[in-house]
Amino acid sequence: MHIWAIANQKGGVGKTTTAAALGGLLAAEGRATLLVDMDAHASLSSYFGIDAPPGGGSYALFADGAQRLRDEIQRTRFERMHLLPASPALATIDRQFGARPGMGKVLAEALAEVAGLYEYVLIDGPPTLGVPMVNALAACTLALLPTQTEFLALRGLERMLQTLAMLERSRGAPIPRLILPTLFDARTHASVACLRTLRERHGPVLARATIPADTQLREASHAGIPAGAWPGARRGGDAYRALLGELRESGPISAKAHRA
Ligand SMILES: Nc1ncnc2c1ncn2[C@@H]1O[C@H](COP(=O)(O)OP(=O)(O)OP(=O)(O)O)[C@@H](O)[C@H]1O
Ligand SMILES: [Mg+2]
Repeated sequence: MHIWAIANQKGGVGKTTTAAALGGLLAAEGRATLLVDMDAHASLSSYFGIDAPPGGGSYALFADGAQRLRDEIQRTRFERMHLLPASPALATIDRQFGARPGMGKVLAEALAEVAGLYEYVLIDGPPTLGVPMVNALAACTLALLPTQTEFLALRGLERMLQTLAMLERSRGAPIPRLILPTLFDARTHASVACLRTLRERHGPVLARATIPADTQLREASHAGIPAGAWPGARRGGDAYRALLGELRESGPISAKAHRA
């Protein structure tokens, strides 16, 4: 089972849009796909018009135990695409359970129980470092790091890479990663220069695919349709298709490449 954590501590960089787009493409091509919403803002759940019941969704795994996963998964209106929704209660788990031993591995344990049911699990992470983010990174086979192509976002990426290094130490194993440039606007000097800097600093783990700024992606999310299935979002949809091809062709990007 491929488990991709879509993570960046910086907000508004395209994490949720990327989770919805990749999930939509995978399900459309026949892959059993589970989307996991680990953000208390529940944007991915809202994207697909799904609410977690009170005390339910991803929060229930922490409050009641990893075995709750199967009961909390919901169908979306897209075939083969299921969703574990989030609720605002998720924001309280750091305070409620943060000090309990084993809290970092709850999602990994839960996903192990559905390993035969899904080919792909895509986790939409929160824009903050806490128990949900730690769980996403502890469970993943690949960390996909959307990074807005603007200079302020580069500092956010550095912080995210430090978090990843910390998680690698506690996992005792490297976490393959791929940095995904998003909201790229070829007409602006800032976007172009930022992409160049990303190449210089992170070339071996930078995706070849670049997600353009495409206002139709906003329309698609408003309509609850993943990018690839929204006729207006051709540029955005094509970019996400290219990304998926790349992820598949290279397999998990090895940590060796990262260190090279
Ligand atoms: N490539 C893009 N082009 C244009 N708009 C985009 C693009 N990607 C995302 N957006 C829009 O930017 C906003 C933020 O995107 P998104 O919610 O995916 O980011 P996020 O990283 O998940 O944010 P948060 O950290 O708040 O969860 C949304 O309104 C979304 O529709
Ligand atoms: Mg989001």
